[in-house]
Amino acid sequence: MPGDKSIGHRSLIFGALGRGMSRITGLSEGLDNAATRQAFCSMGVTIESTDEVTSVHGVGLHGLRMPSDVVDCGNSGTTMRLLAGLLSGQRFGTRMVGDESLTRRPMGRIIKPLRARGAHIAGTAGPKPDELYPPISIAPLIEGEALKGIEYAMPVASAQVKSALLLSGLYASGPTALEEPVLSRDHTERMMLALGVPLQTAGASVLLDPNVDWDAGWEPFEWHVPGDPSSAAFPLLAAAMVPGSQVSVEDVCVNPTRTGLIDWLRLVGANVTHRPSGHGAGDEPMAELTVAHGPIRASVAGGELIVRMIDEIPAVCALAAVANGQTEIRDAAELRVKESDRIATMAEVLGAFGVPCEELPDGIVITGGGALHGAHIESRGDHRIAMSAALLGMLAEGESVIDGAEAVDTSFPGFVSLLRSLGADISEET
Ligand code: S3P
Repeated sequence: MPGDKSIGHRSLIFGALGRGMSRITGLSEGLDNAATRQAFCSMGVTIESTDEVTSVHGVGLHGLRMPSDVVDCGNSGTTMRLLAGLLSGQRFGTRMVGDESLTRRPMGRIIKPLRARGAHIAGTAGPKPDELYPPISIAPLIEGEALKGIEYAMPVASAQVKSALLLSGLYASGPTALEEPVLSRDHTERMMLALGVPLQTAGASVLLDPNVDWDAGWEPFEWHVPGDPSSAAFPLLAAAMVPGSQVSVEDVCVNPTRTGLIDWLRLVGANVTHRPSGHGAGDEPMAELTVAHGPIRASVAGGELIVRMIDEIPAVCALAAVANGQTEIRDAAELRVKESDRIATMAEVLGAFGVPCEELPDGIVITGGGALHGAHIESRGDHRIAMSAALLGMLAEGESVIDGAEAVDTSFPGFVSLLRSLGADISEET
C-alpha cells in the first residue's frame, strides 16, 4: 500500500521544521505528497529520496525561505490548508494556487480563524458570495508582530482546519485551544506529542501552549509512514464484493480516527480480521487487515462514524451496490466539498451502472442487490471516484470505461496493476 497520505504530508512538514536531517520510510509517491515536498523544496529545504528512504534536511522552525515563485498545491487540499497555517506565522509572503478542482474548494474555514489570530491572509472570491477560494495570498508578519492565541470552537470536524491552526500556533504568542464537534484524524497531535511540542488533548479538545517550558523546536527523527487505510479500502472492498475473494493488506494505519470503514464492514456483516503489527510515525498503530467475501447487509451510517470514514464513503457507496436493501448515508454534507461533490458524483456513477439511488442534502440512499451493467464514467478529476467506479466495473456485466482515471495518481499510483494482480480484468489506456 502507498504510505498514508495524511501522515506523509505531516512527516514532510515536521521533518522540514526539525533541527537537522530526518529519515522517512514508506512515504507515498502520490502527487498530493509530492506537492507538499515540492513546496518545502521551494522554501529552501533539501529533500532527497532513494528507493526506501526520504531524507529531509530540516531547517528549524524559523529557517524557511521565501519561495521564489507561487506555491502550486496541485489537487491537494491538505497541502494548501496546512501550509496556510504554517506560512501565516512567517516573516515572508507567499501565494498558493491549485488545480481546477482545488480552486473550487472552500478556504474560508481556515482563512477566518487564521485572520482572527492576526494572520495577513486573503482568499479569492468564487461561486458562493460568502465563501473564499484559492488562490490564497499571505503577507508577512512585520518586525515585532506575532500571531495571537486563539480559543476556537470549530463548526465542522476537520483535521485540515485543526492542523492549520496548530501549525500556526507554533509561531503564536499565546495558546491555541480548539474544540471539534467530533474528533477528526489526530495525526498532527500525535506527531507534535512525539516531538515534545507542549500539547494536551482530551477527547475532541486540544491545547497547544508554546509559552510553557519548551525550547521551540525538535530534533530530527526516523520514522515509518504506515500504509494508507483510505487506499487499502479499495482492494479490501474488492474482496468483500467479489465471490470467492480474500485480500490481506499489511502494516495499515489503524489509528481509531481512521477505522470507521472497518467498523462499518463488521456492521454490515463482512468477514474482517485484524492483526496488530507495531507502530509507525508519531506512534500510529498498524495492523494487517484481511477481508473475505461474504453476504453484505444494508444499514444506516451517520454521526461520528462518518468522520472516521469520510474519505472511504465513495467506496462504501460502491459496496452498497451489492448489499441487499437500502443503504443510507447521512451527516456527510462535507462530501460535497471534497475533490469533487462526492454525493452528486457517486449518485451519477451509481446511476450509470444501473444502481438505484437518491441524493440527499447530506448523504445518499442506495438500493443494492440488483444487476449492474457496464458504464462510461467520468472521474471529474477525483481519484476516489475513479477507484470506486473501478470496483463497480468489476461487478458489472460487460465493459466499463473510466475517463480521467489518471486522477488515481493523486493517492494511489499502481492502483490498476494492483487490482489486475488480484485478478481483475482492468487495463490502462492513455
Ligand atoms: C485530511 C483531512 C480530511 C480528509 C482529507 C485529508 C488531512 O479533510 O478528507 O483527505 O490530512 O488532514 P477535512 O479536514 O476537510 O475533513
